[in-house]
Amino acid sequence: MVQIAGTGAVGGSWPSKGLDKGKGKAKVREEENEDSVDLLPCSWPSKGLDKGKGKAKVREEENEDSVDLLPWLPHLLFYGPPGTGKTSTILAMARRIYGERWKNNVLELNASDDRGIEVVREQIKSFASTRNVFSAVGGGTTAAPGGYKLIVLDEADAMTTAAQGALRRVIEQYTRNVRFCIICNYVNKIIPAIQSRCTRFRFNPLELDQVEGRLDHVIDSEKCNVTQDGKEALLKLSKGDMRRALNILQACHAAYEDKIDETAVYACTGNPHPSDIELIVGSMMNDEFSTSYNYVSSLKASKGMAMADMVSGIYDFLMTLKLPPTARIYLLDQLATIEHRLSTGCSERIQLSALLGAVKVSVQLADKAKKAGHKAK
Ligand SMILES: Nc1ncnc2c1ncn2[C@@H]1O[C@H](COP(=O)(O)OP(=O)(O)OP(=O)(O)O)[C@@H](O)[C@H]1O
Ligand SMILES: [Mg+2]
Repeated sequence: MVQIAGTGAVGGSWPSKGLDKGKGKAKVREEENEDSVDLLPCSWPSKGLDKGKGKAKVREEENEDSVDLLPWLPHLLFYGPPGTGKTSTILAMARRIYGERWKNNVLELNASDDRGIEVVREQIKSFASTRNVFSAVGGGTTAAPGGYKLIVLDEADAMTTAAQGALRRVIEQYTRNVRFCIICNYVNKIIPAIQSRCTRFRFNPLELDQVEGRLDHVIDSEKCNVTQDGKEALLKLSKGDMRRALNILQACHAAYEDKIDETAVYACTGNPHPSDIELIVGSMMNDEFSTSYNYVSSLKASKGMAMADMVSGIYDFLMTLKLPPTARIYLLDQLATIEHRLSTGCSERIQLSALLGAVKVSVQLADKAKKAGHKAK
């Protein structure tokens, strides 16, 4: 889903107008009142994007008759977590704008290309400094001066600060010829000057029903045999990342061709099955310390569970349990600490005992809270 997080480059006065002619701010202000400022024919945003719809919507609209996106286009900054359709959206837009000739009009650079300051100075500058004589908007070939080209800088958070710095002037200088689309996961890695030159769009993790719609489509076309609980497990594990959902489905389809159910999905991804998590938490809460430790260790070894996956499984399960607030808060805090320690490479054995200890303390806290509640009554 796309949300407009800011409207930096949008408004009555188009920042690039005037600037690329070397006129100062005062001049730009003057021009605000002139009738002839036609770079932005009317208020942004354009179709599709302003409705907060992601790639799916753009795709739908690909087949619609000519909606000319090009004159409306500001510089774009797409950011958000992986697999939410940023790259797909801009590529779909490029195909829509330029039709079959999109490859001639788009320069796409991603993390696999070198994007140091030299590339900005040479490759990007030379692409940006030339203009389209024949506009290929909508796939047409009619002479229509004014067609912009598009430069897509994917995974721009990997660009060096020096390269981003060099880009500042290039973006302003060549606004007449090109539009930039800068894509990244972490917007704070993009220097503020570039952010200010672009209209920002945040791509949220997809809603589960959006993932489900697309998943159903792929399941139908690939003729996968997925059970209802298998699909629910896929959706849960995807966490709003469409790419992850499709990857898991593909892996499961390769491994369990005849039937993909919940067990298959968890087995394929190596995530602990919810029923195993239930057993683990049950044992931690009710059994004596060393009995529980041995039981959980052997289950962990036999199922090949990673401690980090176990912690996130326990977190999900805890959210469904009814616990007094003091016990819940204590346990959540401990889970967060253990997860952090695991991410820094601490020993799984010691962290397992710490987790067990934390569960035991939270059971005591829960008992205490219950007794206090009874006394108060
Ligand atoms: N809204 C969506 N509707 C349908 N499919 C989607 C959507 N978003 C992503 N996908 C699918 O998910 C996969 C990954 O999408 P894409 O490469 O665009 O993600 P991204 O946001 O660029 O991720 P990253 O930040 O990792 O580069 C693609 O196969 C794409 O088809
Ligand atoms: Mg991408």
